[in-house]
Amino acid sequence: MKFLLSITVGLAMALTSFASLAAGDIQAGRAAAATCMGCHGASGMRNAYPAFRIPKLGGQQAEYLMLALKAYQNAERVHPTMKAQAGALSGTEITNIAAYLSGLEATAASERGDGDAKAGEAKAQACATCHGAGGGKPITPQYPILAGQYPDFLAHALTGYKSGARNNAIMKGFASALSDSDIQDLAAYFSSQPSTLSTPTNW
Ligand code: HEC
Ligand code: HEC
Repeated sequence: MKFLLSITVGLAMALTSFASLAAGDIQAGRAAAATCMGCHGASGMRNAYPAFRIPKLGGQQAEYLMLALKAYQNAERVHPTMKAQAGALSGTEITNIAAYLSGLEATAASERGDGDAKAGEAKAQACATCHGAGGGKPITPQYPILAGQYPDFLAHALTGYKSGARNNAIMKGFASALSDSDIQDLAAYFSSQPSTLSTPTNW
């Protein structure tokens, strides 16, 4: 009987942690994300070198945010500051932060980078298969929304996939075929699309 009871309790605990894993606690996520806002909560804040604006996280897909944070933790994605930031987070905190950020609503209008958005649109056909039309509605919650992201961050990400600085087998294949002007054009196109992304305010 005691044995059965402990199995039941164990199962209940497992189910509870599974539920919180799926849902995330938005209020706890908001509190845990406070340390992130010095960078991600200030519109137009830049990474010093290379110079690019720190990505918008508001309205991004929750599962993608979780994967990105885990990728910084295990050094699949290399960025010293983000490794330190993500490294301090528990799995539950990651789930909660992702729930909070993904639920935020868009505030600012999209903008355009230096590239040619019209030329970028033509080059973006292949990307829609995964990132959705205009980069606004990816086919799985694990893939990032591109629409409305900062053009300089998109260009930085694509350059990283191309050089191998950012390690992802799927994106390497697509980015390695792109020239520097393709990258600027694609960044201009996706950044100018209607978007749910935002820089968190009111945190
Ligand atoms: C000192 C500034 C700074 C702080 C503080 C910071 N970040 Fe970042 N974050 C960055 C930079 C710069 C990048 C882009 C890094 C790269 O090139 O991959 C980034 C990237 C990210 C990404 C990837 C976004 C994408 O679209 O790929 C996520 C997710 C993220 N940060 C979450 C967080 C969370 C959560 C915290 C707090 C626990 C945090 N960051 C704190 C600067 C910061
Ligand atoms: C087969 C599916 C697939 C296709 C097609 C695809 N992508 Fe991606 N893309 C992904 C995945 C998966 C990721 C996340 C990889 C990671 O974790 O770094 C990603 C990430 C990105 C990012 C990083 C965004 C961020 O917030 O950090 C950019 C930029 C990007 N893709 C642009 C493109 C462009 C431009 C094309 C077309 C030339 C394209 N992708 C085609 C699957 C795809």
